[in-house]
This record gives sequence, C-alpha cells and structure tokens, in this order.
Amino acid sequence: MDEVDLHASFATSAPGAQPLAPGQVHVWAVPLHGDPEPFAALLSAQERQRLERFRFADHRRRFQIGHGALRTILAGYLGVGPKDLEFRQGPRGKPYLVGAGPFFNLSHSGKLGLIAVSETELGADCEKVRHLESLTEIARKHFSPAEFAVLDGLAGEARQLAFYRCWTRKEAYIKAIGAGLSMPLDTFDVTLGADPALLACRDSGEDPRRWSMLDVSPGPEFVAAVALRTPAAQVVRFRLPVDRP
Ligand SMILES: CC(C)(COP(=O)(O)OP(=O)(O)OC[C@H]1O[C@@H](n2cnc3c(N)ncnc32)[C@H](O)[C@@H]1OP(=O)(O)O)[C@@H](O)C(=O)NCCC(=O)NCCS
Repeated sequence: MDEVDLHASFATSAPGAQPLAPGQVHVWAVPLHGDPEPFAALLSAQERQRLERFRFADHRRRFQIGHGALRTILAGYLGVGPKDLEFRQGPRGKPYLVGAGPFFNLSHSGKLGLIAVSETELGADCEKVRHLESLTEIARKHFSPAEFAVLDGLAGEARQLAFYRCWTRKEAYIKAIGAGLSMPLDTFDVTLGADPALLACRDSGEDPRRWSMLDVSPGPEFVAAVALRTPAAQVVRFRLPVDRP
C-alpha cells in the first residue's frame, strides 16, 4: 500500500520508457518509503559520505531513495547505468550533470521526493501542507509587499493554500536561478492563485515573459511548483514505483 497519496495524473512509469521531447518538463513523484537498499547501492562515495551525516533511519532512507531514484531517472534519459552519472555543483550548490544531459532539480518534503527534468534550466519545490502558527510572520518576512497584500485579503484554508502556492513558486524560481538564500525574496513577485505565474523580476535582469511557472502539486497533501526559463512548457507527470530503482 502506497503511504503517499498521489494524484492519478502521476502515472507509474519506468525510467527511460519515455524520452524527453522538446518543450516538455517531466515531473517524477518519488515515494521516499520502502526498502532503501536497492537505491543505496547506486550511490557514489561522495553521496555515501553525505549520508553519514544523517542520524535517524528515516532521514537516511529518504536520502538513499531520493538520490538513488535521481540517478535511476536521469540514467534512463541518457541510456547509461545509474552509477555512471557524475554530478557537479553550481556556485551556490545547485547540482548539474557532468557532460551532456538534461537539466534537473530535486525537492523533498515529508515522505515524497519530486524530480523535475527538462532541456531548459529549471527549479522545483514541493512542500507538504501543514498548519503553521507563524504563517503570517513567515509571509511578512519573505513575501514581497504585493504578495503579502494578496495573502492578507484571504482567510482560512484559502489563505493556507495561497501561502503554500506563493512559497513553492518563489522557491522554484530561486532554485531555477540557483541562487539559494543569496537572492532577496522581495525582488520578484509570483501569483498566489490557481494560475501559476512569475509576475515581475526586479534587479535580477530576468524577463518574466521568458519564464514558465507550473503547478505540479502531486497529491492532496502537497503543493509543488516548477519554474523554467522558457516561455511555454508541457508537463508530463510520472511516479516511480516504490522499491524499484
Ligand atoms: C537549499 C535551497 C536551494 C532549497 O532548500 P529546501 O527548499 O529546503 O529543499 P528542497 O528539498 O526543495 O531542495 C533541496 C535540493 O535542491 C538541490 N539544491 C541544492 N542547492 C541548490 C541551489 N542553490 N539551487 C537549486 N537547487 C539546489 C539539491 O538537489 C537539494 O537536495 P539534496 O540536499 O538532497 O542534495 C535553498 O533555496 C533554501 O534553503 N531555501 C529555503 C529558504 C527560504 O527561506 N525560502 C523562502 C521561500 S518564500
């Protein structure tokens, strides 16, 4: 029984079964539970070193499955073995493949990993929705004035959903740029409603018209977004079978 409730649009698929067509972004939902061993066997020495930092079995399992799955999924596009892949990091830690290969970005929250893959630069963020006592304070601190004004007009569940939409869209954009926490969060605006969009970029030299923002929420408990530096993109959703590297 799958412990993570996923939308039916995330169809079970084997890595490599569907090539990445131009203009597509493939979004893979990866349940981070089950037997981690088949995934752990795929990790590099550097990844195993990172693994040693996790004390709790659950955190270790999530890292093993998340990174093993990332290798399996990317190897499927390249027609190579998962262990053959090499990664490098951008200036602020964003991972890229060494040599030819698609762009990708990984996000994890709770027992779910989300991996987005595309021929254009992208960022992905997934958050498990939970009640936050400090929702208003977090938004006041991190959202732009325009975003906060929209949130402030909402109450109850609509306010919570808008908060998570804004949060994941901002995070997806930051992750696409690769800037990490160095980028001030009030220098760009995203939508908070059902239509995802990057509305304005100040100071970054980016033109929002050249960006796509997509809602890729994988299940009723999660909100997720992908930001890509391309004016149009078609999303294809997949789920990786549990226990299958
Ligand atoms: C590290 C950061 C890139 C994402 O962190 P996060 O949302 O906690 O975590 P996610 O699960 O979405 O993403 C982590 C993954 O992104 C990738 N990543 C790491 N550095 C990255 C960077 N600079 N850019 C893009 N992706 C990056 C890695 O694959 C990482 O996985 P790993 O640690 O298992 O190797 C950074 O943006 C961050 O810490 N942001 C949170 C801070 C915040 O205040 N956000 C406010 C939004 S309103």
